[in-house]
Amino acid sequence: KRKVILDVDTGIDDALGIMLAVGSGDCDILGITTVNGNVSLQQATRNTLKITQLIENEYIPVFAGADRPLVRQPRFEHSVHGNDGIGGALKDMPVYRQAEEMAAHQFIIQQVMSQPGEITLIMTAPLTNLALALQEQPDLPNHVDRVFIMGGAVNEYGNITPTAEYNMYVDPEAAKIVFKAGFSNIVLVPLDVTRRVLLDRNHLAALARTARPDITVYVHQSTSDYMKRYEQRNGVQACAMHDPLAVAAALRPELLHTTSYYVDVEVSSELCDGQTVCDFQNRLGQTPNIQVGMTVDHIGFFNYFLEALSRL
Ligand code: BDR
Ligand code: CA
Repeated sequence: KRKVILDVDTGIDDALGIMLAVGSGDCDILGITTVNGNVSLQQATRNTLKITQLIENEYIPVFAGADRPLVRQPRFEHSVHGNDGIGGALKDMPVYRQAEEMAAHQFIIQQVMSQPGEITLIMTAPLTNLALALQEQPDLPNHVDRVFIMGGAVNEYGNITPTAEYNMYVDPEAAKIVFKAGFSNIVLVPLDVTRRVLLDRNHLAALARTARPDITVYVHQSTSDYMKRYEQRNGVQACAMHDPLAVAAALRPELLHTTSYYVDVEVSSELCDGQTVCDFQNRLGQTPNIQVGMTVDHIGFFNYFLEALSRL
């Protein structure tokens, strides 16, 4: 089984990514690290603890990380994920689990350095925690197996500004550090592919037939406003499974087709901050640093996703 660490800003789709990872049975989750993003660090940690409680699996430790981007102010996404980050679901659930003492970036360093070549990082949030880990342990890239990052938009328009995807936009300085750190095995899962995996009412109906009732209720409740929001902007009654696709790509690589390119992030532009710039024609003459997800098997993804959630 693959050893993974999930880094999240839970988030409706982060939560579904966690559920996919656990339900798939395809990985050993060493821990979940949380970060400021869709909601505050505190709320993201709370939501993550609630999700692990809902799943009721064996204990998964949760580590709180950065409460702000490296240099910028937080930029929450309440309009998409709701005030609480998970669309009002689980609002009456008491939180009886606690985050661990260790900081998220310390946990990442400790695990990766003690198990060289064995750990996959799955990042579905602004990249602040990984950037902090790299600042403290620059040798980290030589010891990580693979890094999957939900983020960026290479041929697509953005989802927070006209050009930027949310995770990149919130902490572009952190993304730049990660992209230039010398990893040889980063897989980027951009909006270009996550917008092709749309959860709709047929998927919800299928889930209701096979999954535990409390899981079905949770997924329905948490995605209800998220879908409305997506419909307002895109005219389709559905919602994009951004973060679950990053998890699926890590556990079932055949679902995502990638091509290697040199990718950088804009950090000093009034209009384009957080934009991922993908050098398709190698005009900059740089060595490719990222495997960019270009096409996705969306039917394969949903089979995997629904089966995993039904196994919880
Ligand atoms: C990303 O932004 C967040 O709002 C989602 O959780 C996802 O990680 C999509 O752009
Ligand atoms: Ca997220």
